[in-house]
Amino acid sequence: MKVLAIETSCDETSAAVIDRGRVLSNIVSSQADLHEVFFGVVPELASRAHMERVRAVVGRALKDAFGPLPWREALSKLDGVAFTQGPGLAGALLVGKVAAQTLAWSARKPLVGVNHLEAHALAAGVELSSSGSKALARPAYPYLALIVSGGHTELVHVRAVGSYRVLGRTRDDAAGEVFDKTAKLLRLGYPGGPIVDRLARKGDPAAVRFPRPLLPGTWDFSFSGLKTAVLYHVRDSGGAPPYSERFCADVCASFQEAVVDTLTAKTLAAAERLKVRRVVVGGGVAANGRLRSAFMERAKGLRVFFPPMSLCTDNAAMIAFVGEQRLRRGKSGGRLAVDPSMPVRSWHR
Ligand code: KG4
Ligand code: ZN
Repeated sequence: MKVLAIETSCDETSAAVIDRGRVLSNIVSSQADLHEVFFGVVPELASRAHMERVRAVVGRALKDAFGPLPWREALSKLDGVAFTQGPGLAGALLVGKVAAQTLAWSARKPLVGVNHLEAHALAAGVELSSSGSKALARPAYPYLALIVSGGHTELVHVRAVGSYRVLGRTRDDAAGEVFDKTAKLLRLGYPGGPIVDRLARKGDPAAVRFPRPLLPGTWDFSFSGLKTAVLYHVRDSGGAPPYSERFCADVCASFQEAVVDTLTAKTLAAAERLKVRRVVVGGGVAANGRLRSAFMERAKGLRVFFPPMSLCTDNAAMIAFVGEQRLRRGKSGGRLAVDPSMPVRSWHR
């Protein structure tokens, strides 16, 4: 089954084609350069950029998947079209939805809406076309998914495709958001996650003892206290900006260690309680080097899966993957309105 998907929930315009779980093409056009000066995503700019880019991005995805065919012919090869229905920025989501709807109508193909967080939770199951590189192991169900992105931090028990129980979520900031805010505070740039990740390698993770907010008795997270602790430390010890590289590296390493300790401790404790043998990490923060190594070191007796880097941050391949699963189970059509705060919900028993 061949499915085209469009992802426009935040600041990446992406289109992909998947065939039976395997990626035929996955094009991602990042808007990071547009939002960089604001140290965060400006929703209006994001929607406009999606509108300007979506046609070319879809065209490239079809060309990579099927070769240089006229649009009509390429679209005729599809079994359906998927789009990100939510959560995300309302205007940005609408651009992707209208584009997908137009293609589905004109090619007379079924249209299916996909939950972006569900796609992050399942992304480790997507098969990248192996261009010589060794294929990564993909997880069997059930597993515990930790979704860590710029807008969300959630622990979800994935019993099977379409069958989920959300155990906990952040009560305030998302993990990626605190990475971005720490980078902003240190005037390092945007998006902050990859910059903090890189700089932390030069720093001492024990330089500053930042809090590890564990919220015992719940599977929820809270990162706003940590964010404030970083703010006070920089204000009280950093001198005047620009801050020295040594200072920034130590703050980044210590801050990152606090986030990683919190995420690994809660996830591994939840896995033990649920008696699941597999943990899957997804979302942009899953690209973090220290998070990856810490999970591998600490996950005794458990298997931990990370999607390949290109499937951690926002991409349409993961949307196409879930879209294909939904189409297979007859879940096209229905309520297709975009939903900026769409929760992860079971849709299949
Ligand atoms: O999943 P994603 O691409 O978009 C959302 O759905 O939000 O996640 C983006 C987030 C940003 O906050 C970004 O700073 C963070 O993921 N991120 C990272 C890394 N790469 C991206 N955080 C930590 N370490 C990284 N290497
Ligand atoms: Zn995302």
